[in-house]
Amino acid sequence: MRLVMIGSGYVGLVSGACFADFGHEVVCIDVDEKKVAALKEGKIPIFEPGLDQIVQSNAAAGRLKFTTDLASSVRAADVVFIAVGTPSRRGDGHADLSYVYGAAREIARAVEGFTVVVTKSTVPVGTGDEVERIIRDENPNADVAVVSNPEFLREGAAITDFKRPDRIVIGTEEPRAIEVMRQVYRPLYINESPLLFCERRTSELTKYAANAFLAMKITFINEIADLCEKLGGDVQKVAKGIGLDKRIGDKFLHAGPGYGGSCFPKDTLALVKTAQDADSPMRLIETTVAVNDNRKRAMARKVIAACGGEVRGKTIAILGLTFKPNTDDMREAPSISIIQALIDKGAIVRAYDPEGMEAAETMMPEIEYGQNPYDIARDADAIVLVTEWDEFRALDIGRIKSLMKEPVLVDLRNVYPPQEIIAQGFRHVGIGRQPKSDA
Ligand code: UDX
Ligand code: UDX
Repeated sequence: MRLVMIGSGYVGLVSGACFADFGHEVVCIDVDEKKVAALKEGKIPIFEPGLDQIVQSNAAAGRLKFTTDLASSVRAADVVFIAVGTPSRRGDGHADLSYVYGAAREIARAVEGFTVVVTKSTVPVGTGDEVERIIRDENPNADVAVVSNPEFLREGAAITDFKRPDRIVIGTEEPRAIEVMRQVYRPLYINESPLLFCERRTSELTKYAANAFLAMKITFINEIADLCEKLGGDVQKVAKGIGLDKRIGDKFLHAGPGYGGSCFPKDTLALVKTAQDADSPMRLIETTVAVNDNRKRAMARKVIAACGGEVRGKTIAILGLTFKPNTDDMREAPSISIIQALIDKGAIVRAYDPEGMEAAETMMPEIEYGQNPYDIARDADAIVLVTEWDEFRALDIGRIKSLMKEPVLVDLRNVYPPQEIIAQGFRHVGIGRQPKSDA
């Protein structure tokens, strides 16, 4: 089939490349001319494992094209996906839908023949109705069906999540659109991914409910971690103990510095606002948002306490800046709040991250950036593990210690067993665990 993806960011580019890999003919559109030019040369503007190969092979096969010309691509398309950004609106936390509505107007002016228009971006409940209204207003003769098909891709695992999804949710009751979407996802039948059809608003709400629930689950285990620190438990063992219960499940129970990224912070806030506007407040998610925001700042206090209560003039080395490993995305990364709080208390901050430093330097020009973990450990008064990149999992702890001024490790992702660290002469601070509790 002929598909158009409007917006070639993390979601649009991965989805477009994977659809092409299914054998569809895909055109990825973007307003950012530099981005389109780079993509045409096979340069991928984001870090996502495996994305460069899948883009290059499908572009070479002629199934994947890039352009800024929306009109001619839409005219020839069977299905047009809207995957433009839906960031939090400045100030009030609602989702900013201006890019989505802009794309809808451009589609209306260009569309020919029956065309399925799909909102792939995460959009508040009712956005599909608004997109439908905009298209009808702009072009009363347009023969379109507006469908919700939210993405459930995790950054760093986006291709796997796209090709082996737990489920595909499609919100439409238009028979012709149902048939078209079955064709779009037909290749996935091979691995039995359930295709869930429902009405559009249900689909839109499902996406927010999924992200909000996951954010709440993470926040739950983070609060259990705080309780463990007071009562003397080990949060990793509690997580295992509850996660083996199939009704709870063992995923998303890693206590840490709080969730970040371009989705959980934005989607929890948008759901809270939508619910308040509907006079049916989501109090659990309101609390999740507040607890998570406080947690990131609390992590800086944990570092300051580990340094004896004072960091003025001290050098703190930060291992990992991105909001999670295997991405270059710095959006809402906990490291940003942690570093800002440490600088406010007079610390000198050095940081290293395998992929995130380019983006981080534009956001935090005042800190020093190193070439590797050992480089930033030199003369440091403490080292803080913020993002659990694989390359931080087998550091030469003895060498780290020999480089540091003070042997203090604050492990915000519980990567290292405390006893191993303490045995090497470090003061160790983890998340939700006491040194004695670890074998
Ligand atoms: C976005 C939303 O943030 C997410 O909530 C939703 O689920 C999927 O779309 P992401 O791909 O990370 O996720 O957005 P972003 O990385 O900001 O990429 C959006 C792309 O759309 C950018 O490349 C931007 O240049 C492009 N864009 C934006 C357009 O092509 N047209 C526009 O009008 C606006
Ligand atoms: C999330 C959802 O998982 C995905 O389905 C949706 O489409 C987009 O948002 P993403 O934000 O890319 O994906 O990353 P994810 O792996 O979900 O992690 C989100 C945040 O939660 C990260 O900051 C991560 O560090 C944190 N996290 C995750 C934890 O702190 N503990 C966990 O156990 C899991």
